[in-house]
Amino acid sequence: MACSAKIFFTIIFLVLNIKTLVEGAPQVPCYFIFGDSLLDNGNNNELNTTAKANYSPYGVDFRDGRPTGRFTNGRNTADILAELLGFDHYIPPFASAKDSDILEGVNYASGSAGIRNDSGSHLGDRIYLGRQLENHQATISGIANLLGNTTSAKKHLNKCLFIVGIGSNDYINNYLLPEIYPSSHLCTPNQYATALIDQYSQHLRTLYEDGARKVALFGLGQIGCIPAEMKKHNTRICVGSTNNAIQQFNSKLKSLVDDLNTNFPDAKFTYINMYSISSIIAPLSVFNRPCCKVLETMPEGQCVPAETPCSLRGIYLFYDDFHPTEIANRIATNRAYNALLSSDAYPMDIRHLVMKNNIVYDE
Ligand SMILES: *[C@@H]1O[C@H](CO)[C@@H](O)[C@H](O)[C@H]1NC(C)=O
Ligand SMILES: *[C@@H]1O[C@H](CO)[C@@H](O)[C@H](O)[C@H]1NC(C)=O
Ligand SMILES: *[C@@H]1O[C@H](CO)[C@@H](O)[C@H](O)[C@H]1NC(C)=O
Repeated sequence: MACSAKIFFTIIFLVLNIKTLVEGAPQVPCYFIFGDSLLDNGNNNELNTTAKANYSPYGVDFRDGRPTGRFTNGRNTADILAELLGFDHYIPPFASAKDSDILEGVNYASGSAGIRNDSGSHLGDRIYLGRQLENHQATISGIANLLGNTTSAKKHLNKCLFIVGIGSNDYINNYLLPEIYPSSHLCTPNQYATALIDQYSQHLRTLYEDGARKVALFGLGQIGCIPAEMKKHNTRICVGSTNNAIQQFNSKLKSLVDDLNTNFPDAKFTYINMYSISSIIAPLSVFNRPCCKVLETMPEGQCVPAETPCSLRGIYLFYDDFHPTEIANRIATNRAYNALLSSDAYPMDIRHLVMKNNIVYDE
């Protein structure tokens, strides 16, 4: 019963919430994005890695149908959130952002990147979280040049929305690959989650020190239910042990949000419960098939280049074996922005986070 109700609401939501880029002032003057392939919009295009999506059929539903480096058929969560926030443009990737763009935000996300430096390394180069923060330092220098000094730059950043969605590759491209990475031999799932959250916490403190005051942290989705993981385990139901490991990470991330809000009362951090938001895929997991034809060899699970994808892209949840379709991204991002259930975001959804206007940078 609960499942069918959820799906019903989701469909209603879809119909009501398909928005496009709008004219007029956005709800925040600037918006910065850190993360992995779920948010990357082109940062890997020039990297020496197999984790890139700047080839057809990726991007088939994006503007003129050409690939951009987004790992989906159309828009990703970073794009859809830009629409919901009222931006008239998508936030450019760090790799190609110009000085004239940076006051309104930069997207640092990189496919196959994790919290750990080594996650995803078997696929090639990637911009892991620590390096994304280094890139942000370069942006801050640029903003300081534009506004006169670092104080003005940080004051500007106080008003921005920051989103961070990272950690999936620390599982998919690390802990869950015992033949390549030693982490699962060395740590229990609980120890591993603790180690990840410790590192993540350091990076978030740096982000705060660099001026971030409104930060949404995206938890991990049900990785046990993605096509790649079910294929690996040769099952048509979600992989419970994987979902359990993911939930340990998520519950520690939620606690971290409490810690950060206590330690930094002049900032607001919020946790987006992508696990429960993505629970729509669990009951449907038996139908979890990717829309595109996927590679059987490296990079396994990504779309085969130049193959025509499925035509009913509005009813598939996955585009390849790892990444949601635009429609699935819309379902999830709508709920992150405007919670459908109180469990979707803690302590508040992004719509309420950006409304906070009492956050002032103290010199
Ligand atoms: C790209 O990476 C591969 C594998 O790590 C390496 O063998 C190759 O030399 C690299 N190519 C360039 C141009 O750096
Ligand atoms: C990760 O890389 C950074 C440089 O970006 C380095 O300072 C740090 O020591 C590395 N961490 C680990 C655990 O190797
Ligand atoms: C930074 O620039 C602002 C605006 O131009 C100015 O009001 C402020 O005094 C400057 N602060 C420092 C430390 O130079």
